[in-house]
Amino acid sequence: AKVAILISGRGSNMAALLYAAKAEACPYEVVLVASNNPKAPGLQLAEAEGIATFAHPHKGLSREEHDQIMHEAIVAAGADYIALAGYMRILSDEFVGKWQDRMLNIHPSLLPKYKGLDTYQRALDAGDNHAGCSVHLVTPELDDGPVLAQTEVAILPGDTADILADRVLIAEHQLYAAALAKYVTREADPDWILEQVRIRAL
Ligand code: GRF
Repeated sequence: AKVAILISGRGSNMAALLYAAKAEACPYEVVLVASNNPKAPGLQLAEAEGIATFAHPHKGLSREEHDQIMHEAIVAAGADYIALAGYMRILSDEFVGKWQDRMLNIHPSLLPKYKGLDTYQRALDAGDNHAGCSVHLVTPELDDGPVLAQTEVAILPGDTADILADRVLIAEHQLYAAALAKYVTREADPDWILEQVRIRAL
């Protein structure tokens, strides 16, 4: 399978997906790293790793116009899947429709809890004893698609949002590569997305 990764910033999940793809047994290859932010640090790393990159700022364009430019670059790269990895733009319904069942996202919470931003602080404020991360299929509603895999991450006394974010990120890197590999090799199994992979990270 050929995967395009969309990023807006740091790109640590992108790096995790790239390095997992270097294993001979990995069922996907990364054919493009694309960004709405030409200064995304992740683009530099992708380039240094010999992966094609594409950047196009969204400024001055409608959501649909920008998504169409991204779509064309992704299709030109030959991708058949998209992995969103810290892509900080809401996607148009049209774009989401074109990639239905072929676009994954990673979100730093145990969905359906804490969609959107500030997930760590919200978990702390709620007094949860676990946070975590989820890989899900992308549907038009934000962070709402079917969950493919989750990792629970223990919350420790004294955790701040930043400390917790660092711990969840370790779990994200493992989970995303594993879930993507599993998803692209799924057998024709209509119940597959109901399966939850739970890994206690700490
Ligand atoms: C991650 O926490 C991911 O779950 C969220 O955005 C962050 C991206 O970090 N969607 P990075 O760019 O992959 O390092």
